Amino acid sequence: MSVNDKPAGIKPISAPDLTRLKKKGRVITMLTAYDYFTARLLDEISIDGVLVGDSANMVFYGEKSTLSITLDQMIYHTLAVARAVRHALVIADMPFMSYQASAEEALRNAGRMIKEGRAGAVKLEGGEHIAPTVARLVEIGIPVMGHIGLVPQSIHQLGAFKVQGRDDPSAEYLKRSALALQEAGCFSMVLEMLPAELAGDISRQLTIPTIGIGAGPQCDGQILVTNDLLGLFEDFQPKFVRRYAHLAREAREACARWMEDVKNRTYPGEDESFH
Ligand code: KIV
Repeated sequence: MSVNDKPAGIKPISAPDLTRLKKKGRVITMLTAYDYFTARLLDEISIDGVLVGDSANMVFYGEKSTLSITLDQMIYHTLAVARAVRHALVIADMPFMSYQASAEEALRNAGRMIKEGRAGAVKLEGGEHIAPTVARLVEIGIPVMGHIGLVPQSIHQLGAFKVQGRDDPSAEYLKRSALALQEAGCFSMVLEMLPAELAGDISRQLTIPTIGIGAGPQCDGQILVTNDLLGLFEDFQPKFVRRYAHLAREAREACARWMEDVKNRTYPGEDESFH
């Protein structure tokens, strides 16, 4: 079966489906994946969207920011995810400097995400200034998710991973940006690290769904980095992360038990050997 074949009985989620879910008042769920195995687990629980986030640069590659991941790396991870997913919408993050220099470059690079990565949509960070680029992508049929608030690709300008929109001018800028991005054709928007009340106001002013991360319960949907939720990424734990498992601890314990068994020659046993 090719990555584009969806078996009968499984209805893939499209970008416009998410707006319909908002209209119905059904909360939208999304998580990140960078590989086939994780994407498959998420798809099996019928998650609505799988984001191939540029957070891969920190979580998967161990970098301190998202900035240095390349378009080729993102395409590689997106294809692995797309191969696993039969139901969810696969959204690929456009990495830093793959869309900022010009709309033409954004078009070519987003096109590669769709053609080579098999993404169903792309995500771009940025406020109202990025709206004309969004409009060009949407014009040629590429669904775009916006991302405002804490935008990690601007970390050097922001200075730290901190809550955005706390004062009036910055809250007004975020509200204006949300409307401009919706007007430009975004089908949905990530709100990252905003005060819950502001995220609620933005969610109510938009017809497209907002997907919150560290933006409180009034968003139309929620997203987390899966490795955070599973307790696989232990370097730090943001306030908004709830850990549902401690898989790094379990994995360490399992591997240490195996190592002990090998050292004391109880692995492999008779049942695990060929004769
Ligand atoms: O890169 C990422 O994982 C993201 C989410 C945190 C929204 O952009």
